Amino acid sequence: MVTIISSTNRPGSSTLKLSQYYQKRLKEKGLDAGILSLTELPANLIESDLYGKRSAAFEPIQQIVTQTQKFLFVIPEYNGSFPGVLKTFIDACSFPESFYEKKAALVGLSSGKYGNIRGLDHFTGVCHYLHLNVMPLKIHIASVRKELDEHCNLFEKDTLKFTDEQIEKFIAF
Ligand SMILES: Cc1cc2nc3c(=O)[nH]c(=O)nc-3n(C[C@H](O)[C@H](O)[C@H](O)COP(=O)(O)O)c2cc1C
Repeated sequence: MVTIISSTNRPGSSTLKLSQYYQKRLKEKGLDAGILSLTELPANLIESDLYGKRSAAFEPIQQIVTQTQKFLFVIPEYNGSFPGVLKTFIDACSFPESFYEKKAALVGLSSGKYGNIRGLDHFTGVCHYLHLNVMPLKIHIASVRKELDEHCNLFEKDTLKFTDEQIEKFIAF
């Protein structure tokens, strides 16, 4: 199973729009992937699902994670790194069956100039700690509002070239 993690719980996020774009392009190239948006996390996650606790609300999310072999994380830049809710989600997931010896590709985005370069580096460190193998080609989409058209598709020539290359490598990964 392949799952795209839309790595913020911010309503109306560009991250979810970009995740849906990746899902569509993957399907066009023959790979079905689900989306797990962190908007689906229980609102009281920090009380209900950390440090050995497990809620009924988180159980179906844990099942998706456990069954997934390949993840594509779409990660916005928040204060120069990845969102805290992504780390809380990782901390809530069971170890080792969630991520150990599985595969991940990373896509960064931001409204600013850097496309979450540093956040993907930080998150790569977390993945390596978990033995979650990260695909070398990472994509950084800066100024995301200028990159998505009115149908939430990427359209800039260079962006299409690099995202399609990543999508093809992810399918083969
Ligand atoms: C808490 C927070 C912190 C942010 N910090 C940064 C930042 O450090 N650099 C940046 O370029 N954009 C920053 N942004 C803007 C996001 O990159 C921008 O909203 C972009 O669309 C991706 O986030 P989204 O998926 O929430 O829309 C921040 C947004 C939020 C909500």
